[in-house]
Amino acid sequence: MRPLKHFLRFKDLSLDEFEHLFARTRWIKDRFKQYQQYWPLVDRTLVMIFEKASTRTRLSFEAGMQQLGGAAIYLNTRDSQLGRGEPVEDAAQVISRMCDAVMIRTFEQEIIERFAKHSRVPVINGLTNEYHPCQIMADIFTFIEHRGSIKGKTVAWIGDSNNVCNTWLQAAEVFDFNVHVSTPPGYEVEAERAGLYGDDHYEQFADPMDAARGADLVTTDVWTSMGFEAENEQRCRVFQDWRVDTDMMRVAKPDALFMHCLPAHRGEEVAKEVIDGPHSVVWDEAENRMHTQKALLEYLLLGRVEG
Ligand code: CP
Ligand code: NVA
Repeated sequence: MRPLKHFLRFKDLSLDEFEHLFARTRWIKDRFKQYQQYWPLVDRTLVMIFEKASTRTRLSFEAGMQQLGGAAIYLNTRDSQLGRGEPVEDAAQVISRMCDAVMIRTFEQEIIERFAKHSRVPVINGLTNEYHPCQIMADIFTFIEHRGSIKGKTVAWIGDSNNVCNTWLQAAEVFDFNVHVSTPPGYEVEAERAGLYGDDHYEQFADPMDAARGADLVTTDVWTSMGFEAENEQRCRVFQDWRVDTDMMRVAKPDALFMHCLPAHRGEEVAKEVIDGPHSVVWDEAENRMHTQKALLEYLLLGRVEG
C-alpha cells in the first residue's frame, strides 16, 4: 500500500513532486481544453470542509473532482456538527471512513494537523490562518506558463505577512527563488510561523518601492484576512503605503507579472490600473487553481500517473 500523503504545508511536497504535478497539470489542462474526458477518479469522493468563506477554492475543487469522474461533498461549520464542538479527532475518524480525500479550510494550522493525524485518507489544506499551499502551487504554475522557470527569480510581496505570504516564503525554499517582502512595521514575517528552514531566500524591506525594484513578479493580498476582521479599521490606516500601483510596477522589471490570489479590493492593496492592466495574470491564476488541484488529487489518490 502507498504511504498516506497529505498536503498541509507547501513543503510537504518536494521539488521533484511539484515538477511531476506541473507536468500532469499541463497534460490534464490540455485535455480539458480539448473537451477530452479524463475520468481516473470514478467512484472516488472528496469531502470539502469549510470553516471560512470561499468562491475559488470550493468551485475549483468541486468542478475539478467532477471533471475527474469523482464526486465532491461540501460541509460547512454552520449546518454540520463541526461548529458544535465535536472533537476534530472524532470528525477526522468518521469523515475519513466515508471518502477518499478531505480538503479543509479552517483557522489555526494546528486544527488541520490534528485532523490529518487521525485521517485514513489524504488531507489537503484549502487555507488556514498560516498557509495557503494550493494557491501558491497554482501561482508558480502560472508564473512558469508565462515566463519559464522561477528558479533564481525575485518575487516582491507587498503588504501583510499573512498565510499567502508565508506560503510564498516556503515555496522560495523549495523552488530556489527569492522573496522581497515589505510589510508595515509590526506586521513583519515571523520565520517560525512561516515554517521556514532559514532566512536565505527572503529579505525584508522597510520601503515597498525597494522591495518591488527589479522584481520579476509583484504580488499582494488583502490587508485584512478572514478571521482578522476586528483589526480592519486599524489595518486600513497602517497599510495605506502598501498599495501596488503603477509607480510600483514601473520600478519592477519591464515584463514583471502581477498576481493576487483574489478576492481583491481595488483602491486598497492594489490599484485598478494594475490588477486590470497589462502585467496582471490574476484570471490565469484563478483558473490554474483547478488544473493544478486536479493533478494534486490524481497524485494523492493514485500516485505517480505517467502519461
Ligand atoms: N484565492 C482563494 O482561495 O479564493 P477563495 O477564498 O474564493 O477560495
Ligand atoms: N489572506 C486571505 C486569502 C483569501 C484567499 C485570507 O486568508 O482571507
